[in-house]
Amino acid sequence: MGYNVAIDGPAGAGKSTIAKLVAKEKGYVYVDTGAMYRGLAIHFLDQGILPNETEKVVKACESADVTICYEDGLQQVYLNGQNITARLRDEAVGNMASVTSAIPEVRAKLLELQKGLARTQNVIMDGRDIGTCVLPDADVKVFLTASVETRAKRRYDELREKGAACDLAEIERDIKERDERDENREISPLRQAEDAVLLDSSDMTIDEVVAAIVKLCR
Ligand code: DC
Repeated sequence: MGYNVAIDGPAGAGKSTIAKLVAKEKGYVYVDTGAMYRGLAIHFLDQGILPNETEKVVKACESADVTICYEDGLQQVYLNGQNITARLRDEAVGNMASVTSAIPEVRAKLLELQKGLARTQNVIMDGRDIGTCVLPDADVKVFLTASVETRAKRRYDELREKGAACDLAEIERDIKERDERDENREISPLRQAEDAVLLDSSDMTIDEVVAAIVKLCR
């Protein structure tokens, strides 16, 4: 069994940034489970399926093979043998992933892959249901959150830096909508595990959050 650190929380709380830094400092493998949902979402989009076409999504799961590997320590996602990592952050992909991740067949498809990665190596895994569902026996569990305003502003700055046109109010609306979906779905909703440590990063620097998590690890 590997040493397992689980980080859950809403979109934009800084999970991936923080988890990558903790992974580097502690020598763990960083596993981004959101990227796997996004990988499947690309498969659905490429088949011309709409987010609300649940039956088609379930059927399409059968022809999707999502695997991950690491190149220079960075997680690469493969869909049916093709590296699709560059497309993962597209807005349409995020929306498709948010909607389809509520479907039990979609979650079942990725669960074993996620558990398997944590079995034999030391990992820090981030997502929505890692502490509650994927790795209920994780050695360390963190629920990382931040206010909606903070998360929207971070996303806005990130998009602006890339030169994209964007609107803060619209981003805030999107984030609220996604939170609502992630928290209220029937299967594996986003919630803090009973034994998770709550960290609110609204008024913390990245270094402070990383230090707080490193302190919790062995
Ligand atoms: O963290 P992210 O934005 O890359 O995740 C994309 C979507 O996948 C998100 O809307 C919720 C879903 N997700 C999930 O349901 N369970 C996980 N463990 C990770 C992500």
